[in-house]
Amino acid sequence: LGNGLAKTPQMGWNSWNFFGCNINEKVIKETADALISTGLAKLGYNYVNIDDCWSEPSRDSEGQLIPDPKTFPSGIKALADYVHSEGLKLGIYSDAGAFTCQKRPGSLQHEYDDAVLFASWVCSFFFFYGSLFSLHLCWNCFPLFLYDFLGGIEGLVHILILFFVIQGVDYLKYDNCFNLGIDPEERYPPMRDAINATGRTIFYSLCEWGVNDPALWAGKIGNSWRTTNDINDSWASMTEIVDINDKWAAYAGPGGWNDPDMLEVGNGGMTYQEYRAHFSIWALMKSPLLIGCDVRNMSAETFEILSNEEVIAVNQDHLGVQGRKIFAYGPDGCYQIWAGPLSGQRLVVALWNRCSKTATITAKWPSLGLESSISVSVRDLWKHEFVSQNSKSSFSARVDAHACEMYIFTPTMETHSAT
Ligand code: GLA
Repeated sequence: LGNGLAKTPQMGWNSWNFFGCNINEKVIKETADALISTGLAKLGYNYVNIDDCWSEPSRDSEGQLIPDPKTFPSGIKALADYVHSEGLKLGIYSDAGAFTCQKRPGSLQHEYDDAVLFASWVCSFFFFYGSLFSLHLCWNCFPLFLYDFLGGIEGLVHILILFFVIQGVDYLKYDNCFNLGIDPEERYPPMRDAINATGRTIFYSLCEWGVNDPALWAGKIGNSWRTTNDINDSWASMTEIVDINDKWAAYAGPGGWNDPDMLEVGNGGMTYQEYRAHFSIWALMKSPLLIGCDVRNMSAETFEILSNEEVIAVNQDHLGVQGRKIFAYGPDGCYQIWAGPLSGQRLVVALWNRCSKTATITAKWPSLGLESSISVSVRDLWKHEFVSQNSKSSFSARVDAHACEMYIFTPTMETHSAT
């Protein structure tokens, strides 16, 4: 989607994986505070995304969504102001159906009302050039504006609107429940158009669960699209999702990313090595890095994983190519080599042992697409050190069961024959 966002995969936090429906404004504010105080925000985790269950079970008499007064008594605008005052961004959730997955009102056939509402949740001052239609939208929701007709060209009305506009959210996750069997390619574009018509740039995250192969069509509609069903906090779910997401690698790139769902790191269902593997592969696959644990109460291990700057830099590399499983061998192909190109002629390489015993895994140059004459330096992104200055033809490492070692290969000198 050419809205200028998602040059690299989105990073932030989302309420669903840990809190489910048990959310309120205190949790969201404390999470924003914790992203700042832990330093995670500085590493790029900027979106604070509220998932399902923020709204009342029905719309008001005018058809507007209303935040649940018990859990969000100050309203979403106040929350947006708070999050913005900390330099973070606010995300909200709705559904391209009659209801959200937790039976709150959905946005199908309410796209314009809801997009205007989402955009209207914070105050700032800006110029807006728009059509009469946009003017109509703004007139409905913005409390104060001045407008001026610029004359000059007959038959053309240019409108300059100068106003205090109440803006709001920066990110919309748009789910797929209760979709009345309507084709997603009909249901997702109207919200894109409605968002555009508000004049505010909002990250548009399609949550279609991979049902209709969104990688094939969602690039024109959204900034990311879910390729799989919901993740749960287990090794089995995480590995299954990785393999599904891998199939769609060719369709990801700056502006639009495959989304294999949010991180479970820190939620307790996997071991330290499994979480490290989860984070490494998400980074390598250029997946959104949306933290899904309670960042107010993270263990040191969880923090170590989520704050690994070298792994984050792989995810945020501006080349934006999704790394892939390039070779698998051993029992059921459980010794795996994942790799992808990075800027500056570098390669990210992961040696992932999906077997249940420690093993030596070897990556050979031809499978990595490297010329046999190339030598590389190898930096270990978890040890934070160079483990080889001059590797030739292959690289091997001992890898614990379920662990994933991750490296950057940088070509050193090519062996040229003297001329
Ligand atoms: C769906 C989505 C999840 C979450 C829940 C909320 O299952 O895939 O990520 O948003 O709905 O109800």
